Amino acid sequence: MDSYPEEYTRRLDMRRIPRHVAVIMDGNGRWARSRMRERTEGHAEGVNSVNRITRLASDLGIKYLTLYAFSTENWLRPAGEVETLMHLIGWTIRKETPELKANNVHIRLLGEIDRLPPEVAGCLAHGVEETRGCDGLNLCLCLSYSSRWEITEAARKLAALAAEGQLKPEDISEETMSSHLATRGIPDPDLLIRTGGEQRISNFLLWQIAYSELYFTHVLWPDFDHEEFVKALEDYQHRERRFGKTSDQVRDDSPEPADN
Ligand code: FPP
Repeated sequence: MDSYPEEYTRRLDMRRIPRHVAVIMDGNGRWARSRMRERTEGHAEGVNSVNRITRLASDLGIKYLTLYAFSTENWLRPAGEVETLMHLIGWTIRKETPELKANNVHIRLLGEIDRLPPEVAGCLAHGVEETRGCDGLNLCLCLSYSSRWEITEAARKLAALAAEGQLKPEDISEETMSSHLATRGIPDPDLLIRTGGEQRISNFLLWQIAYSELYFTHVLWPDFDHEEFVKALEDYQHRERRFGKTSDQVRDDSPEPADN
């Protein structure tokens, strides 16, 4: 293992590492344009950030890292950019799968994967299959994903079950809804990071982030390094998560530190 985790484990409270971190990776295009380069070069540089943040998340013991890699709305971008991005994602996963597997990382896919070019979907399916037995970090890649798509799909499935008489409308609960989303079985994010300076959610995990802590930074995704990630985690660790309760209640609920 590199020496970096030691410094970071000193700075962070390792008992309060978020279980699930979700990231809106924004700013690739601006990173490239400010260097007079093609937008797609910004995406290629963004892959380096994906690799280093995945590695650090895994080393810190984060259990779920969910990356917004391609939204439903991103299909509307110029065809050349879409094609390059798709192949970059497929090719990166193909190349990184052995190392991800060696680090016990389980690749998972969320979104309309059958809309992806078949060769890209093939690279991703190979990564998922290869890492199926891994039980360290879950790397959840959102591809052709949007929250409204996901919620609409869930509504459609529940309506079909109700129409078939397999589900009573009054039996639909928050748990039923959650279990029909693309994220079924995945705990809600504790921390949502957005890079690139915008302060919006852009159709990402709308149901799941009801009580997530939000962290916005001006740092562009290709510049988002270990230090920036640890700064986000430190910021998260200074938040008081109340889930609608009062401060006093939260303090009373938290377990006493052990004597030894
Ligand atoms: C948003 O920046 C970024 C994207 C739409 C793509 C993000 C994808 C990657 C970083 C590659 C992911 C790779 C893997 C293997 C998961 P933007 O283009 O909107 O930037 P801008 O706001 O500066 O124009």
